[in-house]
Amino acid sequence: MPNIAIISSSVRNGRNSHRVALYFKNYLEEKKIGTAEILDLNKYKFPLFDERLQHQPLPSPSAILFAEKVKSADGVIIVTPEYNGGYPASIKNVVDLLYTEWHRKPVAISTVSDGSFGGSQVIISLQFTLWKIRAWTVPAMFPVPEVNKTFDESGNPADKEKTDKRAYNFIRELLWCIEAKSRMADYKNG
Ligand SMILES: Cc1cc2nc3c(=O)[nH]c(=O)nc-3n(C[C@H](O)[C@H](O)[C@H](O)COP(=O)(O)O)c2cc1C
Repeated sequence: MPNIAIISSSVRNGRNSHRVALYFKNYLEEKKIGTAEILDLNKYKFPLFDERLQHQPLPSPSAILFAEKVKSADGVIIVTPEYNGGYPASIKNVVDLLYTEWHRKPVAISTVSDGSFGGSQVIISLQFTLWKIRAWTVPAMFPVPEVNKTFDESGNPADKEKTDKRAYNFIRELLWCIEAKSRMADYKNG
């Protein structure tokens, strides 16, 4: 079973997008698709980036742990809110912090907003940033509009059937990339 890390990006007081991270963890476990762990940036509380982890003389244990979790994950789901048409600084902070950990990592992006468009304006900028660091961005979307109405605080969707169907299509693409990457494990440039 694949090991999937779910990065919950929002560190805002009273945040709502974390509900979607909880939903994915519940979904992956309920459907027995894989093991899932939420990497909650609000718990890590990383300081503002001042150097890549690999160049830090005294890296914090939490930064080392975070890097290990990203490195060992077969795939990553990033759940991010949309702030002023972009992604929050908290997620850029950890994209920049790591380096080889991101290379060829299958990463699926779920965008969240409390408006009608599901934070979909974030996709282009975050996808580009991940592409620049050589992550493998999964060509699938999971936009969540009106998050405060569509998910409760425990991550239960208001319309479970419809949401699970959308999640199936989204996760299927992530699993395809994870499987494809595993088949390339022995490739000379792997
Ligand atoms: C600083 C800030 C900027 C925002 N900008 C947008 C935006 O550009 N588009 C949008 O649809 N919602 C925007 N929102 C509303 C968020 O989508 C909404 O607060 C959502 O719940 C964010 O996730 P969070 O609760 O986990 O922080 C913004 C919210 C904040 C706090």
